[in-house]
Amino acid sequence: MLITRLTLTDFRNHAALRMEPARPLICLYGPNGAGKTNILEAVSLLVPGRGLRGQDFHLLARLEGAGAWAVAAEAQTPLGEVRLGTSHDGGEATTRKVAVDGMLQKSSGVLGHYLKMLWLTPAQDRLFMGPGGDRRRFFDRMVSSFNEGHAAHVSAFEKLMKERNALLQQPRPDATWLSTLETQMAEQAVAMAAARNEAAGVLARHFASGDAQGPFPWGVLQLHGQIEELVSQKPAVQAEDEYAKILADSRGADRAAQRTLNGPHRSDFSVLHGPKSTPAELCSTGEQKALLIGLTLAQARAAREMLGASPILLLDEVAAHLDQARRRGLFQVLSDLGAQAWMTGTDENLFAEAGAAACRFEVKDGTVHVRQ
Ligand SMILES: Nc1ncnc2c1ncn2[C@@H]1O[C@H](COP(=O)(O)OP(=O)(O)OP(=O)(O)O)[C@@H](O)[C@H]1O
Ligand SMILES: [Mg+2]
Repeated sequence: MLITRLTLTDFRNHAALRMEPARPLICLYGPNGAGKTNILEAVSLLVPGRGLRGQDFHLLARLEGAGAWAVAAEAQTPLGEVRLGTSHDGGEATTRKVAVDGMLQKSSGVLGHYLKMLWLTPAQDRLFMGPGGDRRRFFDRMVSSFNEGHAAHVSAFEKLMKERNALLQQPRPDATWLSTLETQMAEQAVAMAAARNEAAGVLARHFASGDAQGPFPWGVLQLHGQIEELVSQKPAVQAEDEYAKILADSRGADRAAQRTLNGPHRSDFSVLHGPKSTPAELCSTGEQKALLIGLTLAQARAAREMLGASPILLLDEVAAHLDQARRRGLFQVLSDLGAQAWMTGTDENLFAEAGAAACRFEVKDGTVHVRQ
């Protein structure tokens, strides 16, 4: 999976940018505010979802521009060569337009057939200490990188749950309607949990393999969730019935709490730093960062095993806190993985160890200069 050409039009601080990365490790360097992360964000919009900053699409247009923005790419994918495009016209629309080989598509979901992506940004540095919801989204994105239906199950479940929560607040909720919603929620929940269990199994195996981690620690990953546990013990149909019953039995409590207390939206995962045998959240800042990089590399290997091709990696400021030996180790692991990796840093020297596997671009005030 490779992006061979990237074009940005009025995207953030880039009026017109064109890049043709010729080698798998793409190093973007330049001063703070130059527009490096903006390039990664543009790339992240070539898969379904809201991109690596999760911002509203109308906010992505260049401030001095006409209001519209566009990202276009040529890519080599397991389905062959393809031209992908996504844009927003600057109006009120909450969705973006997506085109494949020049043909307008109904939704951004189709992008997931062509490209898979994983990303790691400084905003995730507190993943192990922060709220469970962030970890769950991080994990679900990984599941989605090799299970195309997963994201749709997650959003369908959330929509149904919202509807049920609203219904429960009515003075006399319609019991038949509630049962229908709960049955549908259970179907989505079990599909979600099954996908998460499968992903967790493959990921945990790769994450536990110290040899493949280079200079980054191996770890023990465990998924914690009521529905995931149910699905691992019972056939799907039975798990659906049981969760639907849990929902029916907890209507009173859910009504009082004004939310749904049981379900896959409460699941979480924990990580143990392997060599230190310490829970991730108790590790030092540097240890947590190394563990997070290790987890991302393991995700990439897990996805490669499931897909037969490594996903594209977006690694924002990944080299900044690593010493020279660890940087060399990182570039080596990425090369072994055969992944296209887009990396950013403020200094060209951070990428010196990447050697001939890298192509280098200097980013300055919304423009790029090739320094191959
Ligand atoms: N819609 C927009 N229009 C114009 N400029 C924008 C827009 N959104 C963000 N910017 C600007 O883009 C600039 C570059 O942002 P970006 O996050 O890509 O920088 P960076 O090169 O990653 O810097 P750092 O090294 O600090 O992470 C910022 O100065 C920001 O104010
Ligand atoms: Mg940045």
